[in-house]
Amino acid sequence: MTREPLGVGIVGAGPVVQAIHLPTLARLGELFEVRNVMDVNPDVAAAVAGRAGASPSTSIDELLADDGVEVVAICSPSAFHAPQVIAAMRAGKRAVLCEKPFATDREQAELIAEASRETGVPVIVGAMHTYDPAWLAGIAEWESLGADAHTIRSRVVLPPNSRFETSATEVLTPRPSSGLPDLGDPSVRAQMVFGGVLGLAVHDLPLVRRLIPATDEVAVVSASALSPWGYEVGLTANGRLVHAIGALTEQWRPTWELEVVSDHARMLLEFPPSYVHAGSATATIATSARTVRFGPYPHNGYEGEWRALHAIATTGSAAAPSVESLIDDLVFILEVASAASATARREEAR
Ligand SMILES: NC(=O)c1ccc[n+]([C@@H]2O[C@H](COP(=O)([O-])OP(=O)(O)OC[C@H]3O[C@@H](n4cnc5c(N)ncnc54)[C@H](O)[C@@H]3O)[C@@H](O)[C@H]2O)c1
Repeated sequence: MTREPLGVGIVGAGPVVQAIHLPTLARLGELFEVRNVMDVNPDVAAAVAGRAGASPSTSIDELLADDGVEVVAICSPSAFHAPQVIAAMRAGKRAVLCEKPFATDREQAELIAEASRETGVPVIVGAMHTYDPAWLAGIAEWESLGADAHTIRSRVVLPPNSRFETSATEVLTPRPSSGLPDLGDPSVRAQMVFGGVLGLAVHDLPLVRRLIPATDEVAVVSASALSPWGYEVGLTANGRLVHAIGALTEQWRPTWELEVVSDHARMLLEFPPSYVHAGSATATIATSARTVRFGPYPHNGYEGEWRALHAIATTGSAAAPSVESLIDDLVFILEVASAASATARREEAR
């Protein structure tokens, strides 16, 4: 059965919308049509809406009053996510996609969960790796092997966001370039590590939580800020070791890997960098008997999250992740970010 494309409303029209979501939605024209784009900056709203052939708005009420808007993507700065997600739910929209992190603290996440339960409107979080088809194939194989991870390593080496944003599109709102951070200042180190976990590690920590089912006993054992910009965090979660390193550098070549090791198997996930529209990750799983490789598939995690949103909005919320699991992911991420930044404040930068 064919149906009309779902009408999309986009809240916040910065570089992520311009370089990630609009190109993704342009590939998914059979499923979605962008109808309304809202930004507090009227010039940005008009210019980005114009690119998508949509109506511009400068307030969320105006966007939510547009009957053509059936699903809403919240892409504003993180501090606004929770009230805007809740407003979209209370307006009776069919489903909401919220950029990561979907709230900035547990209380706000619980308010979202309460609104979702009351209204029946499902929400998904734009943590793109969780929707990458190679991750989904890899984790299915990993779980079918009964493999039990004892060590997980996340390695992220990327150029600054602006490089890939400007490769993906002509960004209407380029980021101001900032000077080198003063890593002699403890609060700068703490902020860098907190921001690194919430900005980059955030994409892989939900995967870590799937690989280590119970993350109630979390201890950060080491954390440092890295010069000129980066973080290194070591933690244990229910007796398993997790090591995460992330660095922004101009050097070739960009890397985004997650390596998972058990006594009898190893899985290596190699993701494309953020903003890149070049297909999925690959997942390679090796045991003493054989090596299997999944991907690259034609579509990436960004497309995966929009496809998931479509399925949820059109077939009912059964396919949606539970809001409780989204809260658990957020609590884990915030716990790691806070403990790591407290440690980095005390440790010299490297
Ligand atoms: N999935 C990814 O790969 C990825 C990568 C980077 C950032 N992000 C997330 O995407 C979101 C947007 O990131 P960005 O870099 O485009 O952000 P940004 O802060 O550069 O831009 C956001 C836009 O929102 C507008 N805005 C400000 N306040 C608003 C409000 N109250 N309501 C509506 N719009 C408002 C701003 O004018 C700006 O145009 C953030 O939540 C960020 O964490 C996701």
